[in-house]
Amino acid sequence: MHNEKFAPDLYRKSRGNNFIYDTVESTNSSAREIFFSGEGGHGTLVAANCQTNGRGRLGREFYSPQDTGIYMSVILEPRETISPVTMITSAAAVAVCDAIVELVPTLDPRIKWVNDILIGGKKVCGILAEGMIPPGCRRPVAIIVGIGINCQTSVFPSEIAGIAGSLGAAVSRSALCARVCDRLLEICENIDDGTMIESYRARSAVLGKRVRCFGGGRETIYGKVVSICDDSALLIEGDDGKITKMSSGEISLRLEE
Ligand code: BTN
Repeated sequence: MHNEKFAPDLYRKSRGNNFIYDTVESTNSSAREIFFSGEGGHGTLVAANCQTNGRGRLGREFYSPQDTGIYMSVILEPRETISPVTMITSAAAVAVCDAIVELVPTLDPRIKWVNDILIGGKKVCGILAEGMIPPGCRRPVAIIVGIGINCQTSVFPSEIAGIAGSLGAAVSRSALCARVCDRLLEICENIDDGTMIESYRARSAVLGKRVRCFGGGRETIYGKVVSICDDSALLIEGDDGKITKMSSGEISLRLEE
């Protein structure tokens, strides 16, 4: 599967434009240009074999080597009101898990709040959703959902070598990329009907677990995740018994032993 031609457009069932590249700086940046130039709207898929400047959350880099991962962005431009970026990120996490399990039923992906997918405790996927706000507007008119999945990457830079992993299964990158795109569009049709958040809870790696929550200018909280709210926020019961609601923002979370 390593040398397959990357052609998710051949597998895709949902409607939307496809922009498939060999190398780009960042598929999120390309999708942004495509959106603002009017070349792509709702359902547009931008995917590449390699990124030279893959972007992650909190200004981090997303390691995106040639041919061993999926680097994709989907433009969402719903007719009704746009769901908050956090909900869209959660929907993308569920879509990635559903697609992985459909294609490789032996894998058991878990969602580490808010945007990482873990397999065997290692991060195999990250999600970066960005609102598109035209000049003079206050609210996003579209959301670009960027998804990076390590499929067969076996060597990682030393900074992430201990935490990053790959699917490790002989899966077609084209088929998986197409299925993630189709599933995300399906889920977003009914994002508020409760099904998505139920699936998110069922796949959570943190619900009921001890965590350390830090960043965003708040005091570090040590405690247990007692609930995931309907808006994807976490409720953490601190060691002092106090319940704190955490919405994504700049917050980082670590699972504690
Ligand atoms: C994270 O782990 O913090 C989020 C990583 C998101 C990476 C994907 S790869 C495709 C898309 N293009 C980017 O530049 N970033 C996202």
